[in-house]
Amino acid sequence: MDFPILNTSHILLDQLTPADSMALFELFSNQSVIKYYDLEAMTELTQANNLITLFNSRFNENKGIRWAIRLKESNELIGTCGFNSWNAKMQSAVIGYDLHPDYWGKGYVTDAVNCIVKAAFAGKLACNIHRIQADTVLGNAASEAVLLKVGFKEEGIRRHSGYWKNQFHDLKCFGLLKTEFKYQ
Ligand SMILES: CC(C)(COP(=O)(O)OP(=O)(O)OC[C@H]1O[C@@H](n2cnc3c(N)ncnc32)[C@H](O)[C@@H]1OP(=O)(O)O)[C@@H](O)C(=O)NCCC(=O)NCCS
Repeated sequence: MDFPILNTSHILLDQLTPADSMALFELFSNQSVIKYYDLEAMTELTQANNLITLFNSRFNENKGIRWAIRLKESNELIGTCGFNSWNAKMQSAVIGYDLHPDYWGKGYVTDAVNCIVKAAFAGKLACNIHRIQADTVLGNAASEAVLLKVGFKEEGIRRHSGYWKNQFHDLKCFGLLKTEFKYQ
């Protein structure tokens, strides 16, 4: 399958390329972006290159998909989003997203998440998807707000479900089913 390119009125979602290394480095070297992630802030450009290779190999191996989030007016890469993994047998996928803080609070990620969820449930991706899951670290209020706005339901807290940066993390689980998604 060709990489699916998606659009909303303000943003373009397409594939990351090596030309995006610097912008991706700007994103993942920012402490506020990786605050809740199982990741240290990037310190070298090669790490951004490697991440682009990883995202694209996951797509090529049909394990998931990651889009670049670009501003339509300038083509600038401002973030990424996608399905970190999917499971064809279970028809389920795990979603993830991040945006450069210069652009927070403008509705871009809600727009992007709504767009990729719609594509997933409409059968436009390489995996049939019935359920989408998101895990947020307790305290990540902006991420929770995005999920609730798109229609995800809070399903509970998995205690000490993650371990990184030398501590256990409780993860709040959100889920959205194809049968309950409201197309806008
Ligand atoms: C989560 C993230 C992607 C949101 O991107 P964004 O484009 O700013 O999101 P939106 O503008 O679409 O929506 C953000 C919502 O969160 C709300 N919000 C932001 N900060 C908040 C806070 N501290 N407390 C409560 N709500 C908050 C905003 O008010 C907005 O809701 P509203 O439109 O109802 O007012 C961005 O904050 C980010 O990149 N964070 C770091 C990476 C990350 O944590 N990713 C998610 C991992 S699960």
